Amino acid sequence: MYSTDIFAEMVEGRLDALTASRTPATLFAPIAYTLDGGGKRLRPVLLLAAAKAFGLDPEKALGQALGIEVFHNFTLLHDDVMDNADVRRGRPAVHRRWNASAAILSGDAMLTMATQLVAEAPAGMLPEVMRLFNTTAMEVYAGQQLDMDFEDREDVSLEEYIEMIRLKTSVLLACACRMGAMLAGAPEESQRAMYRYGELLGLAFQLQDDLLDTYGDPALFGKEIGGDIINEKKTWLWINAMAREPQRMRQVLDKKLTDYLKIREITEIYDSLSLPGESRRLIGRYTEEAVAALAGVDIPGAAREYFASLARKAAERSN
Ligand code: IPE
Ligand code: IPE
Ligand code: MG
Ligand code: MG
Ligand code: MG
Repeated sequence: MYSTDIFAEMVEGRLDALTASRTPATLFAPIAYTLDGGGKRLRPVLLLAAAKAFGLDPEKALGQALGIEVFHNFTLLHDDVMDNADVRRGRPAVHRRWNASAAILSGDAMLTMATQLVAEAPAGMLPEVMRLFNTTAMEVYAGQQLDMDFEDREDVSLEEYIEMIRLKTSVLLACACRMGAMLAGAPEESQRAMYRYGELLGLAFQLQDDLLDTYGDPALFGKEIGGDIINEKKTWLWINAMAREPQRMRQVLDKKLTDYLKIREITEIYDSLSLPGESRRLIGRYTEEAVAALAGVDIPGAAREYFASLARKAAERSN
């Protein structure tokens, strides 16, 4: 059976053991706090589902699934320092609960823990598994740097935005999908299709994250609403508002408003241009493209339906 709950449970059950009674506690407490934080576990779920779809017992891919989840959590830990974000999954971010030093070093340790877990792959597959993982990690860093660089740029195009989110978010989802197929010994062509599915799903996923950053319910989203506007992140919403109403956007930005008013006035511009609805339609298109990427892949019907419904649910999520 393909069940997100069952795949997520497999991962959840093993995360605690990664930090239990390890010392020094001051290094491992922030790691345990981060891993225990109730994430959606989407990346390991994708990896385990992909492994199963190509005939591998998901238990045999658990090390890599855990590794990718630990890597993802490492990126979030450092991302909150970079984005100056106070809240993650409804609790203080690590650099607030502890301090920046704890966030830096715990993050470093998580990157190595992630690599160790991914490297539990069978010896014959190790080179290609590690190549995929390390290439992906380097792309995520490139995407994160572009995201930061764009804060200080006014001329970011939609094409540049899509490439930035492909790097910072999509490639890890794509890597999870491909690695599951790879571990199961799927043909190259199928691995590529799984990667493309994850990549397109990832574009929809980050567009939805950006939408929720402005329009989400804080109780469900678990992150502070409006952080992207405060940081002047060049999101799809921002780039479109700037292209269509440059003077109104400039007027608001020149006023040097309080955070609260800046969020309110920029959101009003987004609303007046009906950008949320337009963004939702684009999310729908990427989601359907993701589903279509699996059309020629030789997997059981139940797996195909599962990947389709997973993509559609991810596109409509509220957290
Ligand atoms: C957050 O990822 C960062 C993005 C790439 C948007 P998730 O939304 O998957 O975060 P968790 O792990 O479920 O908290
Ligand atoms: C983060 O993008 C993507 C990463 C690689 C961490 P965001 O900065 O939008 O993620 P959140 O919203 O803080 O989770
Ligand atoms: Mg960020
Ligand atoms: Mg962030
Ligand atoms: Mg975000």
